This record gives sequence, structure tokens and C-alpha cells, in this order.
Amino acid sequence: MLPIILIHGFPLDARMWTSQVEFLRGRGDVGGVVLTPNLPGFGGTPPLPREQTSMEAFAREIHQVIVREAEGKAIVGGFSMGGYVLQELLRSHPEVVAAAMFINTRAEEDTPVARDGRLQSINEITQKGTAGLIDAMLGKLLAKQPSPAVKDQVRAIMASQSPEGIIHAQLAMSQRRNQTDLLARLTLPVLILAGAEDATSPPSVALSMQSHMPQAMLVQIASAGHMAPMEQPAAVNAAIETFLTTTRSQ
Ligand code: MLT
Repeated sequence: MLPIILIHGFPLDARMWTSQVEFLRGRGDVGGVVLTPNLPGFGGTPPLPREQTSMEAFAREIHQVIVREAEGKAIVGGFSMGGYVLQELLRSHPEVVAAAMFINTRAEEDTPVARDGRLQSINEITQKGTAGLIDAMLGKLLAKQPSPAVKDQVRAIMASQSPEGIIHAQLAMSQRRNQTDLLARLTLPVLILAGAEDATSPPSVALSMQSHMPQAMLVQIASAGHMAPMEQPAAVNAAIETFLTTTRSQ
């Protein structure tokens, strides 16, 4: 059975997938081997040099994981920034991805306003550290009535990332390409997950992704913001299970 690889978002690490890993490892029929690699600069791993950090470089790292630890083929899920990486992987090495799960993510590149915001955030981190970025992100990443426990967990994961890793990834995301043309060429099974209250990658963005991929299964998670896998793990796990059941039987 093909392994499952889950790519984390920004500025997070493998710990964001704790509930999915526990669920999928316990489901031998659809789950099985689940790998949650930390992208360079996150989860205590050393960052790539600033000028070498890009979504393409992150995709090369995931490609290596699939070749080394999954015998060259896997079902791959990417959350937000992890979704940008997954799309880059599908562009460079489509042969290693058997099915794709786009979780709270988008295909478009940054708008000029978003790019400016990232550059400002890089300046602020350089001068004052990452606390301001984390507060700002926590203010918009969760559902309207966030669980204090989830908020604490997300904050702890974010606060443990190195400023260098965060800065390099911000810059890399600001330079990422638009992947809309890629989506229309994908013929593999696709799951798109959206949080009903996600202000960062709203359901309209998920619908727009689906409009390019008629084969995609789209699931909207109620009472979830951007951090759907941590905010509503049971609903997210159920959607992944349904997708895997269908995909694995094909
Ligand atoms: C993420 O959750 O990975 C970020 O919101 C992605 C981004 O900043 O574009």
C-alpha cells in the first residue's frame, strides 16, 4: 500500500499533523505508513541558505523523501505552504505522486499587497523577532470561535521555529509562481479541503481550484478556519479516509 506524505504549513512543522498521523496509522485498511517530513528550516532542521530557499527547493526535499522512504511513489497532502510545495512537486516530478490532497491552500501566487506584507514582516522579524508575526497570524488563522487549547498548540509550534527559517520561507513564498495552469493538466485523484471559516484560503479559493480539476473531491469543513487539521481533526480525518478509500480501490 502506498505511503502517505503530509507536508506542513508556515510557520509550522510535522506536529501540526499529530491527529492525522494517529488516525491514519491506526487504519491499516486505508492509512498505513504516514510520513510527515519537516521542510528545511522548520521543526529544528537547518534552513537552506536564503538565496537557495524556494518552493522548488522544498519540492526537491519532498521528492528525495519519496524516493528514499516511499520507494518512489506516495499519496501526498500539502497544507497551505505545503500545498504550494506539493504543486511544485507535481510540476517537476508528477511520477512520484499517486494522489494529491490540497488542504487549506491555493494555486495563485502572492498579490503585490501580500508580497509587501511579507517583506514588512521580514523587516520586523529581523529587528524584533517572531512574536509580532505569530500574534498577527493567530488573529486570523482560526475559526471565529477558536478553541483556546488549539490556539495554544498552534502558538507553541510557531514560537519554536527559527527566525531564519521563517524569513527564508516568507521570501520564498513571496516569489512563488502561479500554478493554475498545472491544475488543469492533473489527471490524478485529488482531494481539496477547505475550512468554512478560513480567511486565508477561503472556500471560494477551493472552489476556484476545483473548477480546474473536475475529478477533484471538494470537502468543506464546518467550524474550521485555516488550521482545519488541528481545529476539526475528526472531520478532516473523515474526509481523508473517504478520499483514500475511493483512491485506494481504483
Ligand atoms: C500557511 O499556513 O502555510 C501560510 O498561511 C501560507 C502563506 O503564508 O501563504
